[in-house]
Amino acid sequence: MARNLLGIADLSPEEVYALLERADALADGATPQRLAGRLQANLFFENSTRTALSFGIAAGRAGVEVVTFPTEASSLSKGESLLDTARTVEALGADVLVVRHRDAGAPGRVAAAIGAAVINAGDGTGEHPTQALLDALALRRRFGGLDGLTVAIVGDLRHSRVANSNMLLLPGQGVRVLAAGPTALLPDVLPPGVEVVRSLDEAVSRSDAVMTLRVQRERLEDALDLSAIDYHREWGLTAARLAGAKPELAVMHPGPMNRGVEIADEVADDPARSLVLEQVRLGVPARIACLEWLLT
Ligand code: NCD
Repeated sequence: MARNLLGIADLSPEEVYALLERADALADGATPQRLAGRLQANLFFENSTRTALSFGIAAGRAGVEVVTFPTEASSLSKGESLLDTARTVEALGADVLVVRHRDAGAPGRVAAAIGAAVINAGDGTGEHPTQALLDALALRRRFGGLDGLTVAIVGDLRHSRVANSNMLLLPGQGVRVLAAGPTALLPDVLPPGVEVVRSLDEAVSRSDAVMTLRVQRERLEDALDLSAIDYHREWGLTAARLAGAKPELAVMHPGPMNRGVEIADEVADDPARSLVLEQVRLGVPARIACLEWLLT
C-alpha cells in the first residue's frame, strides 16, 4: 500500500518534525533525492496558482516527471467519473496523484480506489496538508523553532482547508493556536488545543504570528451580512491594528489575498513583517520533502 498525504492525521508529530527538518535543509540548498523514473500526475479540478506551480517545480527539482491532467478538455465533460479518471491516470503509470477538488474527501476516495500515492492539494473545506507544512516551515525559519510560539488564525476559518490543516499540525509542534473571526465564519467545533478569542486586537497582541485568510465567498452557504468595507474595518490587518503587536510579529497569508479586505497593502507589503512571498518560496522545499517521503 502506498503512503498518502490526505490530511495531517496521516503524519505523526514526529513525522511532521522530520519533514520540516528535511524541508529546512532543502531550503538551505541541500540536494533533493533523485526520484527519476517516477511520474506525478497533477489533477486540479479547482483553480490554483501557487499550489499547482510549486508541485510542478518541486517534482522537477527531484527529477520526477509531471503530467498535468487537462480538467477542462478531458473526458470528464463526457461524464467519466473522478474514480475512473484516477484509475486511468494510474494505468498510464502515475506513481503519485496530486489532487485538488471542490468536494471534501475526494482525494481520500481516489486514494481508496488506486494503489498509487495521493497527495491532497486542497479538498473543498477539508484539508490542505502541504500548505500547513510550508506555513510551519516559514514560522520555524522566522523564529528558529515552533515550540512555544503563539499563532493566531484570523478570518474565514469555517471554510478554510488551510486553517483546518494548520489547526491540526501546529498544536502537535508545541504551538498555541488562537482562532478569531466573525462568529458566522468560525467553525462550530475546533480541534483540541485551539482557543477562540473574540477580537482581532486580542489575537494580534498575544501572537508571534497572525495568519489571515480570504473570505471564501464561493463556499458561503448564506450571504455574509458584512460588506467588504465592514469586514476590513473589523477584521482587516492594517498598520493601525498592528500598533499593539509584538515588534517581531509576523504576518502570513496563504494567498490569494484580497487586498483592502482581510489585509491592507501596507501590511501585505511590509518587508519586516510579511511572510507572504516567503510562504510561496518555501512551498517548493516543503513539497520536495513530501515527494521524498511518499516515493522512497
Ligand atoms: C488557498 C486554497 O486554495 O486553499 N490557497 C492556497 O492553496 N495557497 C486559500 C484560498 O483559496 O483562499
